[in-house]
Amino acid sequence: MSRRVIITAGASGLGLAMARAFADAGDRVVVCDVDGAAVATLPKGIRGVQADVTDEAAMNAFLAGVEGDWGGADIVISNAGVGGPAGPIESLDFADWQRCISVNLDGAFLTCRWAARVMRAQGSGVILLTSSVSGLFGFPWRTPYVAAKWGIVGLTKALASELGPAGVRVNAICPGAVEGPRMDRVVAMEAAAQSRSEADVRAGFTEGVALRRFVTADEVAAMALFLASPGAASISGQAMAIDGHTERTT
Ligand SMILES: NC(=O)c1ccc[n+]([C@@H]2O[C@H](COP(=O)([O-])OP(=O)(O)OC[C@H]3O[C@@H](n4cnc5c(N)ncnc54)[C@H](O)[C@@H]3O)[C@@H](O)[C@H]2O)c1
Repeated sequence: MSRRVIITAGASGLGLAMARAFADAGDRVVVCDVDGAAVATLPKGIRGVQADVTDEAAMNAFLAGVEGDWGGADIVISNAGVGGPAGPIESLDFADWQRCISVNLDGAFLTCRWAARVMRAQGSGVILLTSSVSGLFGFPWRTPYVAAKWGIVGLTKALASELGPAGVRVNAICPGAVEGPRMDRVVAMEAAAQSRSEADVRAGFTEGVALRRFVTADEVAAMALFLASPGAASISGQAMAIDGHTERTT
């Protein structure tokens, strides 16, 4: 059966990998993304709407449009997040903190508030939220992102309790460093903040990881497919790492 799938920040990166995986499985997929150009070039079979997850009016309009077309949704993936600034907390700007918290948490709030209403009424549904290993450990130099991603885990746990009795499952996916342009940017930013070489910072990301490698976007998409499947019918309220097993963070 073709499920109705919504993914925020789905025009590139992990969101797009998940959108492709659900579309390939025969599901109907719509994404939102702040990047209108990326939305305009989405692959065939994936619908897109330009919307910033921190903009309540834009998100309400996006979600109302989906509700008008589909009557609800079976799987909602709150995936939008930005890495925020890197550096000791004394050096960070309040505005950068606020932007990082807003994209990660305001976006999740607006998305999940809608999903909770429609899924509670349906008596079924799956909500997935993209957290991070930064939502499981206390990485230094990344206080805004770490705080935001722990917030996503808290939201997941509270929502799983609120919605479980209505037959709705809620889980957080916690990826480690994912191969791709975003990690390239994070490595460059941390190298600058800590006056280290990019090669050194990159090596540092896998030193404390048992498998000694980054994960791939396709692996994260496969995990989302599983968590949305009947095989995961008893899994809710979990923050599940997909990280090659993080053993040390410094
Ligand atoms: N890439 C990694 O290594 C990694 C690791 C752990 C967790 N994550 C999390 O995974 C999620 C996706 O990360 P990614 O690596 O694909 O990111 P990315 O930087 O590649 O961006 C993906 C998409 O998010 C969109 N976006 C950014 N701000 C937005 C906003 N305000 N509203 C709507 N769309 C917005 C961008 O336009 C882009 O298309 C994020 O929550 C991120 O924190 C990523």
